[in-house]
Amino acid sequence: MKILILPGDGIGSEIVSQAVRVLEKIQSSPGEIALSFGVLGGAAYDKHGHPYPPETQQQAREADAILLGCVGGPKYDTLPRAVRPEQGLLAIRKDLSLFANLRPAILYPELAASSSLKPEVVAGLDIMIIRELTGDIYFGQPRGRRTNAAGEDEGFDTMHYARSEVERIARVGFETAMKRNKKLCSVDKANVLDTSILWREVVTEMGKLYPEVQLSHMYVDNAAMQLVRAPKQFDVIVTGNIFGDILSDEASMLAGSIGMLPSASLDANKKGLYEPIHGSAPDIAGQNKANPIATILSLAMMMRYTFNRNDLADRIEGAVRKVLASGKRTGDIAQFGEPIIGTIEMGDAIVGAL
Ligand code: IPM
Ligand code: MG
Repeated sequence: MKILILPGDGIGSEIVSQAVRVLEKIQSSPGEIALSFGVLGGAAYDKHGHPYPPETQQQAREADAILLGCVGGPKYDTLPRAVRPEQGLLAIRKDLSLFANLRPAILYPELAASSSLKPEVVAGLDIMIIRELTGDIYFGQPRGRRTNAAGEDEGFDTMHYARSEVERIARVGFETAMKRNKKLCSVDKANVLDTSILWREVVTEMGKLYPEVQLSHMYVDNAAMQLVRAPKQFDVIVTGNIFGDILSDEASMLAGSIGMLPSASLDANKKGLYEPIHGSAPDIAGQNKANPIATILSLAMMMRYTFNRNDLADRIEGAVRKVLASGKRTGDIAQFGEPIIGTIEMGDAIVGAL
């Protein structure tokens, strides 16, 4: 297993270090897992003057899978957009054609009280959000800034999807639903946007190939509301890049903390970039406070999706459950008065459980 580790910025190196300990623990013989390390985002800008430099691109192409911490930080906020850390993330997704972003929102029973919703609304929650990741308004052309005829400044972006892009993400949605509870909800804004009208047509046509899957369509504003009203009505959600960006942050709160949720970004051959869905948390960076669980669960996804090693994925997830059941909590998932442990101590506990 050739794995490239990109710690990134902020809390990235702290959380990724704990994940690397997990990798070392699960390897059954030396050399089974070959790690290499690189830079992405602000760290890459500092070293090479670009958030996704050729050095990293080369490493990324050679790896079977990539584990990323997180990118960004206030230090880079004043840089021109083209070299900001987030552009590094967008560039690696596009460069490797990682079009399918899987973001599970699972509530561990031990954390029911950490959710922002009532325990009975979220108990047993298990949603898979599938977000298209290389198209939409994130990449559509033209985009930019200009001065209009009246001499006023304008900013503009283009929402865009081609049929083939919708087909391939819809297929991932249906296939995923087939392996779960056979319910797929496609989220769009077809009452307003032409892009969404095409999206809905294509998903509906595709549905004919999957007669066993119960397909529904929902406008994104309604979906945002339903996610906090009755989240357990969802099994698999498939949606475009920007709607998925927003809905997956919303769903993370149902699961107690954004520090708990992993993600996988896959290409057509299951090569993948795995990362926690949270950001670089500059306010707590370097303080041994960050929750490494989302990163460690991202490794479990890597074992499952890229390496077909469900045994290792189950082991990692089992260890996390055991540690949560034993009451170990980082600050983000602790209830008032519960003792709080640090990033390293959480890593110790998970490695111990393994
Ligand atoms: C995410 C993030 C990124 C996105 C940013 C950092 C570019 O919010 O992975 O959800 O918008 O895709
Ligand atoms: Mg986001």
